[in-house]
Amino acid sequence: MNPRLARLQPYPFERLRALLEGATPPVGLRPIPLSIGEPKHPPPPFVAAALTRALDTLGSYPLALGLPELRAAIAAWLERRFALPEGSVDPASCVLPVNGTREGLFAFVQAAVDMSRPHPAVLMPNPFYQIYEGAALLAGAEPAYLTCDPAHGYLPDLDAVDAATWNRCQVLFLCSPGNPTGAVMPEEYLRRAIELADRHDFLVASDECYSEIYRDEAAPPPGLLQAAQSAGHSGFERCVVFHSLSKRSSVPGLRSGFVAGDAAVLADFRLYRTYHGCAVPVHTQLASLPAWNDEEHVRENRRLYRAKFDAVVPMLREVLDVETPAGAFYLWPEVGDDETFARGLFAEQQVTVLPGSYLSRTDAHGMNPGRGRVRISLVASVEDCVEAARRIVEYVRASH
Ligand SMILES: Cc1ncc(COP(=O)(O)O)c(C=O)c1O
Repeated sequence: MNPRLARLQPYPFERLRALLEGATPPVGLRPIPLSIGEPKHPPPPFVAAALTRALDTLGSYPLALGLPELRAAIAAWLERRFALPEGSVDPASCVLPVNGTREGLFAFVQAAVDMSRPHPAVLMPNPFYQIYEGAALLAGAEPAYLTCDPAHGYLPDLDAVDAATWNRCQVLFLCSPGNPTGAVMPEEYLRRAIELADRHDFLVASDECYSEIYRDEAAPPPGLLQAAQSAGHSGFERCVVFHSLSKRSSVPGLRSGFVAGDAAVLADFRLYRTYHGCAVPVHTQLASLPAWNDEEHVRENRRLYRAKFDAVVPMLREVLDVETPAGAFYLWPEVGDDETFARGLFAEQQVTVLPGSYLSRTDAHGMNPGRGRVRISLVASVEDCVEAARRIVEYVRASH
């Protein structure tokens, strides 16, 4: 087997299972899992209805390119959402459907990394979505970790990276709003990343799967394509973005998203996908179409997350230093030893959270930005999130 497989880290949820093994939470308390980032709001009924109507397409093989009507709907959505010039996103060459961003992000790195160049590196935020690292390792590139700490607004400090590392960089992953920090990258920040990509010849892959989960209705997070336009990259040169219906529409089981951007890059990625055999099923595409065309259900989704932050954060503030993030649906407080906290909380209160160190690595300066924090995922109902917050407060008070 491929020896690179041995370099993959155990997935955070496997580590969490091992950590919680043998703990015996009180039987009278119902479990409240706030560890996994799986949206739990009801999926929009019109998506299920479209999926059912599309079942007669089971007799057809899908194409890697996707259906023209879905690509057109996505291009129009991108232009509306990111205020891009009309016609700037060519549905035929700038958009490809993927089976959720996880699949797209992973496959993209396999297609993008050029092993004939010396010491390829894939740069990523730290903490980070674990697929970036696994994708880099399996593609034969070295993952390089860019610390996201409070001193820099939880964003990687691009100016702290040395020129030698930038010169080895082939793909820079960005994630905005970030998982787990919820930090949003301003447009100037994205433009700076593009400037570095031009100077050092690499691709910027922006994971925007949380772009529709944000706090301020009047200030949606900017995206890389809009930064590319304002940086004069009218063809989105060197830029690709990854979007998903999983969080936007609470349909993580549909496995539907897209990649969009630089047409030359996407032409090669499409070739890769043809051989990889990861075309999105036709019924999934037809169910996705109305979800990109409707914003009402997404506003309602945001309203529910806002209600949870508004209820939970003031409660937790009584015992933890916790901030409401600009985007995504996580809290990222400091808690002391993160594993001890997560195991104790589960053992005493049946509430599951994820130790921050499972999402981060020790960087070149010996710093691990996830150590001492936990990720609390506000995916459960408002009532369950409030009940979990009550139990967290009780747990912290009892353990001090
Ligand atoms: C940062 C980030 N990117 C990508 C994904 C993958 O989402 P999906 O494959 O459902 O689009 C997740 C899921 O939790 C995530 O947190």
